[in-house]
Amino acid sequence: MQTWNRRDVLASLGVLGSAGLLSGCGEPILGESVRSVGKGGESVPAAERSAPASAGAPVSAGVADPVSGLVGRWSYQPLDPDTVGQVAYELYPHGSCMYAVFGSVISQLAEKAGEPFRSFPLEMMRYGATGIGGWGSVCGALNGCAALIGLFHREQHDKLRDELISDLFLWYESSRLPRFVPGPVADEVGVGVAGSVLCHVSVSEWCKSTGHDAFGKERRERCRRLSADCAMRLVELLNAGAEGPADFLDLTDANHACIECHGKGGQGDSSARMSCVRCHQFDRTHP
Ligand code: HEC
Ligand code: HEC
Repeated sequence: MQTWNRRDVLASLGVLGSAGLLSGCGEPILGESVRSVGKGGESVPAAERSAPASAGAPVSAGVADPVSGLVGRWSYQPLDPDTVGQVAYELYPHGSCMYAVFGSVISQLAEKAGEPFRSFPLEMMRYGATGIGGWGSVCGALNGCAALIGLFHREQHDKLRDELISDLFLWYESSRLPRFVPGPVADEVGVGVAGSVLCHVSVSEWCKSTGHDAFGKERRERCRRLSADCAMRLVELLNAGAEGPADFLDLTDANHACIECHGKGGQGDSSARMSCVRCHQFDRTHP
């Protein structure tokens, strides 16, 4: 594992010096739609010409979107989970959870591949803080992960995209987090099981488990470490390549049952996959 200190991380992102990923001066993403004309006069996506030879297991490389016609070079290359986790941890104070997770992966890919990753307007990801602008809805660390999954699996009908998101969300709902420890003398922040992908529920469960409040420095440290955990888990999933990991986590039997009766093939009065019993509890009279 490559070891990073705060200065390395920030310098690699341009925070400390010259223009870089965080400086907001990147070229627009639509620049990626540029196509060039090949020798025989055929239109060649710029992406296909410049695909790096050492790209590992690129996913979605050079595939044009059939609707927009855009071709991106936003191809994933395997990353080191420990490094990505550490970078996420270091980025957190500069923009909170979603920014940290998204930035950790994008900055590592910028290191490896340069553009277009270097020009990504990472600042936009600050909106995800505290469940989107303070609303306590979807956890920003998960939102950042899902956005990255969407970046690398962007075809219209990509089953793997939803599978990867499900796996990550189920892991988050059911795991004792955070696990990431930033260093040998790190303070204890305690753990909680979120039971939900919602920021509000996740934070409140952790508060109940640990006795801390939702606004203190311990809570910030908890979310900082949680961001590292999510980024690491995401990279492990993405590293599994174009087929995805061998096994995906599955919904609980209870959730399967709820969805069977209430989902698409059933009464059709609920469209969701998140843990139902978090919000709906029944006595034995329920069907
Ligand atoms: C065997 C089929 C079946 C299963 C399994 C099932 N439900 Fe239901 N559920 C029903 C039926 C039937 C109704 C009544 C529908 C009505 O009155 O319109 C109902 C009603 C509800 C309602 C609205 C009424 C109320 O009591 O609040 C909710 C919410 C609900 N179910 C959630 C769930 C959840 C969550 C689960 C899983 C823990 C679940 N259901 C499992 C069939 C099922
Ligand atoms: C974050 C909380 C939350 C979660 C998680 C959740 N629900 Fe709901 N659900 C609600 C709320 C709020 C309503 C609307 C108010 C109500 O009728 O209870 C609702 C409504 C429903 C209804 C319609 C009830 C009616 O009276 O017609 C059904 C059926 C239902 N949910 C099933 C599910 C199933 C199945 C799941 C899991 C896949 C699920 N819900 C997960 C909060 C939640």
